Amino acid sequence: MEIVNTAQALQGQLSGQSAPAGGIAFVPTMGNLHEGHLSLVARGLDAGAKVVVSIFVNPLQFSAGEDLDAYPRTLEHDLVQLAAIGADLVFTPDVSTLYPNGLQAHTTVRVPHLTDVLCGQHRAGHFDGVTTVVCKLLNLVSPDIAFFGEKDLQQLLVIRRMVKDLAMPIRIEGVPTFRAADGLALSSRNSYLSPAERAIAPQLYKNLVTISEGIQSGSGDYAGLCQTAVQRLDSLGFVTEYCEVRRCQDLALAGPDDTDAAVFVAAQLGGTRLIDNIQVGTY
Ligand code: PAF
Repeated sequence: MEIVNTAQALQGQLSGQSAPAGGIAFVPTMGNLHEGHLSLVARGLDAGAKVVVSIFVNPLQFSAGEDLDAYPRTLEHDLVQLAAIGADLVFTPDVSTLYPNGLQAHTTVRVPHLTDVLCGQHRAGHFDGVTTVVCKLLNLVSPDIAFFGEKDLQQLLVIRRMVKDLAMPIRIEGVPTFRAADGLALSSRNSYLSPAERAIAPQLYKNLVTISEGIQSGSGDYAGLCQTAVQRLDSLGFVTEYCEVRRCQDLALAGPDDTDAAVFVAAQLGGTRLIDNIQVGTY
């Protein structure tokens, strides 16, 4: 496994050898890797691709007051895990490599509309930071395919739209959320949870399942189902930011006629912000 930290070295590695039949697969990450990230790498390896992973905690996608400084940085352990699974190339740029003129002076890539709701509404500028860095990384790596976790479903939909709108010749593939045995979606931020909070955290997914079951059994009152879930979550100690059923196509609020929708939830538990979703209505 090769590890590079400059754009020149990355491109040297990528142009040095001919790509395998499976092409080049890319998995962008912010490090602190868990089984969810490794399942994205495994998908690329299974496809016979040369798998490139980036590890970069992107300051542009954190708003003032968020956890940029506290975000867990575990590079050595990440590299051990990536070598063990068989990743081919790891790109670990620093901030000045990706933003040589500073964060504020960098061109911004912005996807409108899809970023106005859900996390976009609660985290000012977050998705502009994500699309800017992902666009740049995709241009540097030029993969045939890039993998993103469905846990961040809004992010996946936003990136798909960016790639389509900008005619980038890259296939964007979502990979199902990796869950702990009790249902909690794996996330780098789970390490912030105290043991007591960790015990409550799976309720987030349990409530998504309850809403999904309500929808499958014919309830058309999506707002009511979500409101009941918010009351249950808040009574357990969550501070729910949003819980909504939205269409995957355009993130408009969904109703019983929509066949491709998801329930999206975000909630604070103590000092930790958790998000999750469950896809519903694909009949
Ligand atoms: O999902 C993440 O870890 C990040 O948002 C990403 C896609 C690596 C961009 O920084």
